Amino acid sequence: MSKKTADYLKEKKINRVPITMVTAYDYPTAQLAEQAHIDSILVGDSLGTNVLGYQSEREVTIHDIAHHLKAVKRAINSAFLIADLPFGSTGTVSSALSNAKRLLECGADCIKIEGWAEKVNIVKELSQAGIKVCAHIGYNPQIHDGIPRTFGKSATQAYELLQSALELQRAGSVLIVLEKIPLEVAEIISNSISIPTIGIGSGNRCDGQVLVINDLLGMTPKVFKHVKPYANIKDDIFQSFQNYSKEVESRTFPTDSHCLHLNEDELKNLRKLIS
Ligand code: KIV
Repeated sequence: MSKKTADYLKEKKINRVPITMVTAYDYPTAQLAEQAHIDSILVGDSLGTNVLGYQSEREVTIHDIAHHLKAVKRAINSAFLIADLPFGSTGTVSSALSNAKRLLECGADCIKIEGWAEKVNIVKELSQAGIKVCAHIGYNPQIHDGIPRTFGKSATQAYELLQSALELQRAGSVLIVLEKIPLEVAEIISNSISIPTIGIGSGNRCDGQVLVINDLLGMTPKVFKHVKPYANIKDDIFQSFQNYSKEVESRTFPTDSHCLHLNEDELKNLRKLIS
C-alpha cells in the first residue's frame, strides 16, 4: 500500500469518504492499525495518562513523545503519522519549531499543536518552514486543565471556534482535530473549511474520526460518552493473568508439550558427571 499523505486525506474529504485515525504508542498496536488500513496514526499526549501512568497530559515531555514515536514509526509504511507537541514545547515560536523538527527526525509526517487562534503564529511559522501541521481546537487537555468539557455550546463560543478554524487553515494547517464540540458546530466548521476535520466527541459530520486506542480497545476503566469500545481487552488481559497464575501455581502450566527433553544417553552421562 502506498504512503498516505495530507493530499490523500484532503482527497477523501473532497470525495466525502470518512478518514480513520487512531492513537498508538507502541510497535505492535501500530502494526495492527497499519494492517487494518487505518488512514492515520497519532502519537498523542494521551500517551501520558494511558500508558505512562501520569496524572495529566501536562506531564508528557518531548522526550516521551519522541521515544514512542520512534517505536510507532518502525511499524508504519502507509499510515499518515502525526505526533503531538506536548505541553511546554510550544512556549516560543523558536522552541515550537525546534521541537517540531525533532519529531520530524523521529519519523512524523505531521505535527499536531493544541490551541485555538492564539496558536496561529506558531502554525504559520511551522507551515512556512515546510512542516505539515494538524491544528486541534475545542477541548484541549494541555490548556484546559485536563478537565474534559464541551466547547462551543453558546453561539458566541461556537463562532470563536469557527473563526479559529478559519485562521488556523489560513496559517497553513493541513488538518484540524475538533474535540468535544456540539455536532452542529462541528458540521458548520467542516463545511466552512477545505482542510479535513477529524472529530472526537464531536459527532459524525466531521470528515474523519479519531479515538484513543485504549478507549477503542476497552482498556480504560471509565467509558467516556464519546467512546464506543470495540473490544474488552481489559477483562481479557485480567482473565489471562488470573488463568496463568492459577496454572503456574497448580503446575498445570507448562505441560510436556511446552518443553524439551534431554536425550537419555546425555542424561546418563550428566548423572555420571555429577556422581
Ligand atoms: O493526545 C491525543 O490522543 C489527542 C486526541 C484525543 C486527538 O490529542
